[in-house]
Amino acid sequence: MKDMFILAIESSCDETSCAIVKNGCEDIATVIMTQIDIHTKYGGVVPEIASREHLRCITLVIEETLKKANMKIEDMDAIAVTYGPGLIGSLLVGIEAAKTLALIYDKPLIKVNHMAGHIYANNLTKKMEYPLISLVISGGHTELIYMKDEYSFEKIGGTLDDAVGECYDKVARVIGVGYPGGPVIDKLSKEGTHEYNLPVPLNDDSYNFSFSGLKSAVINLAHNCEQRGESLNKANLARSFQDVVVETLTKKTMKALKDYNVKRLIVAGGVSANSAIRESLKELCEKNQIDFSVPDFKYCTDNASMIGAAAYFAFQHGELADENLNARPGLNLV
Ligand code: KG4
Ligand code: ZN
Repeated sequence: MKDMFILAIESSCDETSCAIVKNGCEDIATVIMTQIDIHTKYGGVVPEIASREHLRCITLVIEETLKKANMKIEDMDAIAVTYGPGLIGSLLVGIEAAKTLALIYDKPLIKVNHMAGHIYANNLTKKMEYPLISLVISGGHTELIYMKDEYSFEKIGGTLDDAVGECYDKVARVIGVGYPGGPVIDKLSKEGTHEYNLPVPLNDDSYNFSFSGLKSAVINLAHNCEQRGESLNKANLARSFQDVVVETLTKKTMKALKDYNVKRLIVAGGVSANSAIRESLKELCEKNQIDFSVPDFKYCTDNASMIGAAAYFAFQHGELADENLNARPGLNLV
């Protein structure tokens, strides 16, 4: 079969990214412009600023990607873009750029769900095989997805309240260690021990998660310490919090694998960069003869290579769009 080159664009949150991906598995060139430094001073993403930054960077990022790959848009077989979920103002910048390119150069336009992108980031590291269970953990999602086959998604569980990444970010803000919270807490927890007794959320037999109780417990603990004038050991708190997160994610994921009798696990989303989560799931999979896959670090957080990987399969499943494509901020995977 002829090789397929896809130029993919991602702008759903605070990263403006473009990539050229070959056959859904080979990253030819990727450029990511992150806005983390800009949003850090506000302690989180400011949507209005994010869309302005995307607008400022989008053309530069596309040009830089083509230059890096030493290719032209004429060499592409299709243009792909994230159309949801995400921030509406941010999504629209990528969508308008992709629509314009598809129209001018007469290329097919592929619409990609951001979460499918996170899942297919795994295909850039190791060929995905089915059936599999995917644990999707990001700033906006915490879901267990059963994939019976290629590009087929069945949600079997999810968070009842906060997403796990959101919880990391909030905890980091409350204890004053910076933004985004995930990488900071991950690092800090290595210097601490499990000293604080925190509640294990939704410790039941379902495939669902809940993180708001854990988040509130950390906030209360921090506030109580402050009121009493006691010092808070941030490293120990980070460690105690992360241990509980790892325990609950591992337990529910293993239950899903057992109940569905599936021998493959993939992890996806920004939180899959977490060292303790990766380690715990890898160890459990080894013990239970389950094939384990997690994206390379560079493909865990938002990037356009994962959109290009998913687009290859989306194209084969008819996910085509035209100039009427609109942003879908609340788009679900299933
Ligand atoms: O997938 P992503 O880049 O954006 C969304 O689609 O949400 O995920 C961002 C989230 C943030 O909440 C960030 O704190 C978290 O991923 N994250 C981590 C780590 N690196 C990023 N969480 C835990 N440990 C990490 N090492
Ligand atoms: Zn994401």
